[in-house]
Amino acid sequence: CVAGVMSVEEGLRLVVERGRLMAGLREAGAMASVQASVEEVLRELGDEPGVSIAADNGPTQVVLSGRETALRSACARLEGRGLKTKALKVSHAFHSELMEPMLGELERAASQVRMSAPRSLLVSNVTGREAGEEVTGAEYWSRHTREAVRFAEGMRTLYERGVNTFVEIGPHPTLLGMGMECVPVGSAQWVASLRRGRDDWDTIAEAAAKLYAAGVDIDWRGFDRPYPRRTVPAPTYAWQRQRYWMDPAPESGARSTFDELLGSAEAFEALSASMALSSEEKRVARRTLEALRARISETRAARPAHELLYRVAWRPRHLEASSPAPSAGKWLIVMDQRGAGEAVARALEAAGASCTMARAGDAADLAGEDFRGIVHFGALDLGAGAACIRGLDDMRRWIAAARPPSRLWLVTRGAVSVAGEAIDPGQASLWGLGKVASLEHPATWGGLIDLSASAAEDASADVAAELLADAGEGQVALRSGRRYLARLAPLEGDAGEPFATSGTALVTGGLGGVGLEMATWLVRRGADHVVLLGRQGSAAAGAAGAVARLEALGARVTVAAVDVTDAAAVAELVETIDAGASPLRVVVHAAGVRGWSRLTELDGAALERTMAAKVRGVEVLGHLTRGRRLDAFVCVSSVASVWGSASQGAYAAANAYLDGWAQARRAEGVFALSVGFGPWRDVGGVTADEAAQLARLGVRGLGTPAALEGTALLLAAGVAHGVVADMDWTRFRPLYESGGRRLLDEIEGAGERMAATADVDFLAELRRTPAAARVVRLRTWLQRVVAGTLGMSDPAGLDVQKGFFDLGLDSLMAVQIRQSIARELGITLAATVTFNHPSVRDLAEHLLGVLGLREPVVLPAPESLAADMETEIDSLTDEEAAARLAMHLDLEGAFE
Ligand SMILES: NC(=O)c1ccc[n+]([C@@H]2O[C@H](COP(=O)([O-])OP(=O)(O)OC[C@H]3O[C@@H](n4cnc5c(N)ncnc54)[C@H](OP(=O)(O)O)[C@@H]3O)[C@@H](O)[C@H]2O)c1
Repeated sequence: CVAGVMSVEEGLRLVVERGRLMAGLREAGAMASVQASVEEVLRELGDEPGVSIAADNGPTQVVLSGRETALRSACARLEGRGLKTKALKVSHAFHSELMEPMLGELERAASQVRMSAPRSLLVSNVTGREAGEEVTGAEYWSRHTREAVRFAEGMRTLYERGVNTFVEIGPHPTLLGMGMECVPVGSAQWVASLRRGRDDWDTIAEAAAKLYAAGVDIDWRGFDRPYPRRTVPAPTYAWQRQRYWMDPAPESGARSTFDELLGSAEAFEALSASMALSSEEKRVARRTLEALRARISETRAARPAHELLYRVAWRPRHLEASSPAPSAGKWLIVMDQRGAGEAVARALEAAGASCTMARAGDAADLAGEDFRGIVHFGALDLGAGAACIRGLDDMRRWIAAARPPSRLWLVTRGAVSVAGEAIDPGQASLWGLGKVASLEHPATWGGLIDLSASAAEDASADVAAELLADAGEGQVALRSGRRYLARLAPLEGDAGEPFATSGTALVTGGLGGVGLEMATWLVRRGADHVVLLGRQGSAAAGAAGAVARLEALGARVTVAAVDVTDAAAVAELVETIDAGASPLRVVVHAAGVRGWSRLTELDGAALERTMAAKVRGVEVLGHLTRGRRLDAFVCVSSVASVWGSASQGAYAAANAYLDGWAQARRAEGVFALSVGFGPWRDVGGVTADEAAQLARLGVRGLGTPAALEGTALLLAAGVAHGVVADMDWTRFRPLYESGGRRLLDEIEGAGERMAATADVDFLAELRRTPAAARVVRLRTWLQRVVAGTLGMSDPAGLDVQKGFFDLGLDSLMAVQIRQSIARELGITLAATVTFNHPSVRDLAEHLLGVLGLREPVVLPAPESLAADMETEIDSLTDEEAAARLAMHLDLEGAFE
């Protein structure tokens, strides 16, 4: 009908008539599929009476049809030759001689239908070739019913004709999977129009998107015709298809989870009792578990540091003229003393806007009025550096008071360093506050606009243009008539010379979590004296043990009970260091407190409390070390100042101050580094609950080795500010961007990164893996392949025992998975491999056999096991180690 051979009405009439005639046939017959090529089947069966080839569906898929007894004996013969057959549930033996009694009637019905030659390319299922005039004859339609379906040949014809995009029109993709088998792998796009169990419109829209991306010219007007459409900015939320069901609690020791087994003595006792382990076996098991625990936490922490580094890059971008131009509207301008706000008001008015002027400090209640925007210039009067803290409170009150539809913009001067220019850390701290405002108040937040540090530069027209364009950019810097936008970018870390130092390292917050790790690292890198500074001094929890551990590494340790904001006390401490034999070579400023408060509830005193240690501390330390030759000055900052952190406005502002401070120092030619860390795992003030919450958002805990190596890489890279964070971007990006924020525009999703690092060498690695650990390694790898096809972000969350089709796989996805495995492992696999081995667990077992990597397992005696294992565990990955242990102690169920 689509090719214009017959009308839809007449086509339907013919279909109904054909169905009626088939239903009237006296002998039903049977059908079966065979996993073989048509040539193989013909070779085996020859002209077996009573059986016909009903369909040639692909290189390993043939369907037979005919009389029941004849078909059964044909299948038995094929099975005897090792070919798999499967009976099909059908009402009749289609495409067989049993259709013959109805063909005369069918031809008569077909001859009544008005038919014309196809108007577009039509490939015939009867010949597998391009169809012509013959389809208009009634005889063609009786051959169509009686003869075999030449699907495979039809697909090849299409492919040879240059067709490389295939869309299946139907309720669920079934033909696509077969079609993929008929043309070279990767040579075509396969698009399902509908999928069972999925929303029709979602699938169709996805299909349209895929086709569009493949270069197909879509008639978008036609697509939209039945709907009144309006263009609106939409959040880019992507569902993660993550499983959130709670796992049932383990019932007994034997079913306890791996982590429980590692962490709980009771679980271990229960398990060993249920397995009736001898005391020797228990001893071996306990020692192995301990070694394993240490190994696991170490390898988990070992994500390579160079993958965790980022920097804020400033990208020059013209302001696109908005179309249609929105009306200029009413604006509230909060003035500064130098007239920058008034100049912008004049520029806005010149564009047709009306502006109300207000003074900072006295007019926050005006924010309740119906302005299109409130533009706050008060920051320009705040004064430099630490003097700004009090002024931030004024800004905070404006943020809290803004009501929709008004949106608040903050204008700063010299807050960000676009190209290494000198900046004011006080202004930078305002950006920290603004980034949190964008998370806490997305409906009333406009953005941050930074002017050049030079007041002589008049950017009023550019500011007005930015405000009026409402381009959705929340972080804009205007410099000499050019517009720059903030984008987070991966930072290439090059190890170069490993960081080395000597002499004294002063670490503020040195007895806190991060500070102590930093101090330990500095000792390992050559510091012979560390000064651990904190208000509590030796009274801090764990101080004595920490000192002993550092001393055991060979360092001299001084604990100083000093408040870093107390300039005189810190000066005295530095004098004492100077009087000693080990000169001050490194300063790490890790002192800090966190404060939890929404911007609406934060008051000036709390703001000051949270910011003081970082802001005043760095000023004191900076002043005392000015002019000294240091190996490093490291400020311990946070990602909160880079992309914000809800309820941590003061904390983000404090860290932004540190980032700005290091950049300001840099502009003076003195090297300092501010490291924006993501949360550390098991170290410092981030609680387990917070860590779990952050992990759900895609912010993973940083392992200590990676955090420290990341710091070393940033020092080597010579940047003034960098980020070290272990992010799951597939989770974090959609959440962050749901407010229209653009900072992460250049960050690739983890899914893409995974694809880019496809495991080409996986097979070689698998061969090197100890035999006992291979199946688990293979399962982990398969989890990634399957999760990738399913669009799941967390492969580890994929149940290895669950059937693929229960996980949501359809036959098209099953073929994709088979093809990926075959490609990556360089093997050929039966078309039905995912049906015959329908879970990650089954498939991994099967693949080991196909790869010839299944080896007999020899259990060593317990004594040699203990000795061997301890040395070997060091060389295993955690999956390998788990598999190894599972095999010896038969605990696999528990590990699962
Ligand atoms: N833990 C993380 O995951 C993480 C992530 C990113 C950034 N950071 C940053 O790392 C730094 C340390 O955090 P942490 O998690 O290790 O917290 P922590 O264990 O609470 O350590 C903070 C340390 O700072 C000291 N301190 C606070 N105010 C001080 C002051 N006025 N003068 C001198 N010392 C002061 C505290 O000692 P006293 O109480 O004895 O003064 C404490 O030892 C913070 O700056 C934080 O922003 C941490």
